[in-house]
Amino acid sequence: MKKYNFYAGPSILSEFTIKNTAAAVENFAGMGLSILEISHRSKEFIAVSDEARAMIKELLDVPSGYEVVFLGGGASLQFCMVPYNLLAKKAAYLDTGTWASNAIKEAKLFGEVDVVASSKEANYTYIPKEYTIPEDADYFHFTSNNTIYGTEMRYDPDVKLRMVCDMSSDIFSRPVDVSKYDIIYAGAQKNLAPAGVTLIIVREDALGHVARAIPTMLDYRTHIKKESMFNTPPVLPVYAALQTLKWYKEQGGVKAIEKINLDKAAILYDEIDRNKLFKGTVAVEDRSIMNVCFIMNDEYKELEADFASFAAAAGMVGIKGHRSVGGFRASLYNAMPKSSVEALITCMKEFEKRH
Ligand SMILES: Cc1ncc(COP(=O)(O)O)c(C=O)c1O
Repeated sequence: MKKYNFYAGPSILSEFTIKNTAAAVENFAGMGLSILEISHRSKEFIAVSDEARAMIKELLDVPSGYEVVFLGGGASLQFCMVPYNLLAKKAAYLDTGTWASNAIKEAKLFGEVDVVASSKEANYTYIPKEYTIPEDADYFHFTSNNTIYGTEMRYDPDVKLRMVCDMSSDIFSRPVDVSKYDIIYAGAQKNLAPAGVTLIIVREDALGHVARAIPTMLDYRTHIKKESMFNTPPVLPVYAALQTLKWYKEQGGVKAIEKINLDKAAILYDEIDRNKLFKGTVAVEDRSIMNVCFIMNDEYKELEADFASFAAAAGMVGIKGHRSVGGFRASLYNAMPKSSVEALITCMKEFEKRH
């Protein structure tokens, strides 16, 4: 039976990515060896890493003065690397969810943290809009897409200071004005590759302004200087990332992908709003186009487990909501075809007919 993959991460990758990566596991770059067993310093792999970083620059229109780095440690390591490298005295953070608050917790180890606003009291069902960012902060940090709650800031805020963003779950889903940011980071396991690599785009002149000693591995300058080869990089995820980037280019780039994403999200939200059994969980204006969260309407609450089984029987995988929200979450990352979203909608309609 066909499976429809709605996992929040690790999550769906394009068939192109999976096929080419599988082929490279057997025979990489005509070397007669698997990508799993070659040196990261082989000329064939260096070419992969260089091409992947160049394609990120091309697809996101990264201006000069920025470098792209691949690191291990997940996005969670960036929660500490960002303040280690940028926080001299004080940083400003917007608290829009679990990941943002994890980032805040780490930053507090390095200096003063001004949480400019938080929607925690409303279980993160909206993005705070009214807040003042202190001008003497070293940087402003926010999470563009809140994977767990299904809210998203689909714009690049204008702030007067350095800006850092966790784009783990919506990178490449829309064009971004990189020039507004000093650091953008993203774990790969949603819109790029299997877990294991983290993408960082960093403005070089944002570095070197803190007095503290930074351990070599945690200093962005180490990895910039060594072109992401200071130590052994996650070879397979980087290879898979390159395949995804090539596929994005074939799709027409991030602008074209954004159009498709908006359409996919719109049809699913329309169904949630129309169907008598379901309702959305977050403020309409802050709805994420990547992670669509919904629950049963109050009078149909007891049908939640039935719908979960009904959807599973129709091939839907990974739609259980995060435990802190409950209900359902359908993640519609870039690689998800519109036909899969339509299959979920059909399933919702059929379930409604039975009740
Ligand atoms: C927005 C966001 N930030 C950070 C993380 C943590 O990423 P990692 O598991 O790579 O540390 C996640 C994971 O889902 C996420 O969705």
